[in-house]
Amino acid sequence: MKKIVVLTGAGMSAESGISTFRDAGGLWEKYPIDDVATPEGWRRNPALVLDFYNQRRKQLLKAKPNAGHYTLAELEKKYDIQIITQNVDNLHEQAGSTKVLHLHGELMKVQSTSSGEEVFDLTPENYETHLGDKCPKGYQLRPHIVWFGEAVPEIENAVRLTEQADIFIIIGTSMQVYPAAGLIDEVKPGTPIYLIDPKEVNVSRKNVTVIQKGAGEGLKELREKYMNEY
Ligand code: OAD
Repeated sequence: MKKIVVLTGAGMSAESGISTFRDAGGLWEKYPIDDVATPEGWRRNPALVLDFYNQRRKQLLKAKPNAGHYTLAELEKKYDIQIITQNVDNLHEQAGSTKVLHLHGELMKVQSTSSGEEVFDLTPENYETHLGDKCPKGYQLRPHIVWFGEAVPEIENAVRLTEQADIFIIIGTSMQVYPAAGLIDEVKPGTPIYLIDPKEVNVSRKNVTVIQKGAGEGLKELREKYMNEY
């Protein structure tokens, strides 16, 4: 089975009604990154940070996977599909994708402030975290999100998977955040690379086939090509 590695960003979930970060009206316009997505922001005002992620979870619980998510799940019938997502939502999993690596953490999980390896699941019934909510060892819980300035523990796994790609597809990411954006440089020479995004996105590699469309439509196009081709 050919291996397709798919790097997704916020644009993948835009058609599910989840705001992107850097588009006009995006999340970082309303909430300064420094306040809600850095260790310094957490130290300054943890209640604000917890509230921000409680709101993100509330929004996620109302969202459903879109056509693009379902197409990626369907492609598993014919391909070994490995998704590497920068998204913290679980819409790929909800659509049925079985191999999803979350580079920037997961919204429906929290971790102990004493160790990023002590991770706990939240549930749709009990999705909020507040000051005073502690892990069994007595440490405050924080979102299981990789904030700016923090290490990205899954990057080595992501690099290894990217190197194995027979086809590499990038969907809905502005390719501005590293190390995720650097994964394109790990794709083996000669591997077909596709980029699906309604806007122009600058990437370091040449010979990238650009599909300037939204995730749903762009993936429909690739689905037609690849479900018939091999
Ligand atoms: P951005 O908000 O930077 O980029 C979103 C991309 O999605 C843009 O290129 C848009 O043109 C594109 N887009 C918009 N609508 C789309 C649609 N319907 N279909 C396809 N693409 C669409 O989001 P990311 O690149 O994912 O990290 O941002 C990377 C990281 O920065 C995030 O994981 C997050 C953020 O700060 C953390 O919070 C740690």
